[in-house]
Amino acid sequence: MPMKVLVIGSGGREHAIVRQLAASDLDPVIFAAPGNPGTAGLAANVPLDPHRGGDVARFCLEEEIQLVIIGPEDPLIAGLADRLRRDGIAVFGPGAMGARLEGDKEFAKEVLASAGVPTPRFHAFSSTDAALKHLDKIDLPVVIKACGAAQGKGVAVCSSREEAEAHIRKCLDEQVFGGSGLRILMEECLFGPELSVLIVTDGQDYCLLAPSRDYKRIGEKDMGPNTGGMGAFAPVRLPPHLYAEIDGRIVLPVLAELRRRDIPYRGVLYAGLMLTEDGPQVLEFNCRFGDPETQVVLPLLKGDFLDLCWTTANGNLGSFLQGLHEVEELQPQDWTGAGLTTWLRHSVVVVAASDGYPGRYVKGRPIDLPDGEHADRWLVHAGTALEGDRLVTSGGRVLGAVGTGMSLRDARRAAYGLLDQVHFEGLTFRRDIAGPGEGD
Ligand code: AMP
Ligand code: GLY
Repeated sequence: MPMKVLVIGSGGREHAIVRQLAASDLDPVIFAAPGNPGTAGLAANVPLDPHRGGDVARFCLEEEIQLVIIGPEDPLIAGLADRLRRDGIAVFGPGAMGARLEGDKEFAKEVLASAGVPTPRFHAFSSTDAALKHLDKIDLPVVIKACGAAQGKGVAVCSSREEAEAHIRKCLDEQVFGGSGLRILMEECLFGPELSVLIVTDGQDYCLLAPSRDYKRIGEKDMGPNTGGMGAFAPVRLPPHLYAEIDGRIVLPVLAELRRRDIPYRGVLYAGLMLTEDGPQVLEFNCRFGDPETQVVLPLLKGDFLDLCWTTANGNLGSFLQGLHEVEELQPQDWTGAGLTTWLRHSVVVVAASDGYPGRYVKGRPIDLPDGEHADRWLVHAGTALEGDRLVTSGGRVLGAVGTGMSLRDARRAAYGLLDQVHFEGLTFRRDIAGPGEGD
């Protein structure tokens, strides 16, 4: 009997997860809830609301689902994984206690402090007056963050007092982010390239997926406001000593601290790092796969993705890792999980967005896609919908064009070549994803 797997979510990350599961030798039967037109070709889309845990559990029991992979943070933070585990269902994704690392940035800071992990200095506020008084005492730029999860829009890097005051008021007075913005962090601004490190752990063992880089700002040369992510590439090649430093100074102490606090964790812990002149520092944690990082990291995976998720969900990651022993010349010795990734290939994703995003944008515009399949390039659906049999835009990030190749340049060319064949009114994208200076 093939394994039955349910993927929760409806974005580009979930399409990438479904795509990778569909390539598994274990030949699973895949469901996506609610899924999107991209997952529909590979999975059965089911109209379940991830926030109705009882409905999801009932569906799993009726359909004899053996594994649930939860994509987005909101249901994780709300405790969907705990709810399903209570019914004996294996889940890839942490319970509410672990997901608090993403859902409460002040808590994440406390965990980092106890673990002795480098992270920017900060102060937390719930009162506008106190925050504005503090603002008068500090140097700019400063980073202001809504403490709760806000779809990547709660963080503002502010270089003027006006900008900082506006974001403080947006959070605390205007309550644009609802409850997520009622407490804020004012954080020291760091400088340097960023790195997304996806740690797969079952609470005991862990391994790292390919290091990747996400492009968060809407505009080229990193101008304009933050988005959910406009593109990404992997693997990011680092100076050799950094691999060991990330492991020894960040990953190991954080996982040990979670164990010390009896916080169980089975899933992905995503560490958003900045590689500063004084070494890597943690800017944020997410309790899930990154979007769009997943789109570039999974195609580089060696070994079976379903097996990785299944063993992790069951606390057997160690047995999966023992099965990996192929050594490639290019793999960095100190990257834990180096054997899980092929370091000989590269991948790039470029996001096609609706003009206006991350602000207001129009939905429902017809999309034209190229015909035919290519082994080295494909489209991932993020914000698309079907109106009758017409594919239309339904989100800010609409599609991701993924390209792979033996060099970063080839991968980039494949991704942009594919994107050139996609058309909808108002399509915008960044032309500088994985551009010169990023490794070739
Ligand atoms: P976060 O959601 O906390 O990762 O923040 C989103 C983005 O804001 C990061 O990926 C960085 O680009 C930027 N950012 C966050 N914190 C800082 C910081 N302390 N210094 C500089 N940039 C930051
Ligand atoms: N790409 C950033 C995120 O997934 O939060």
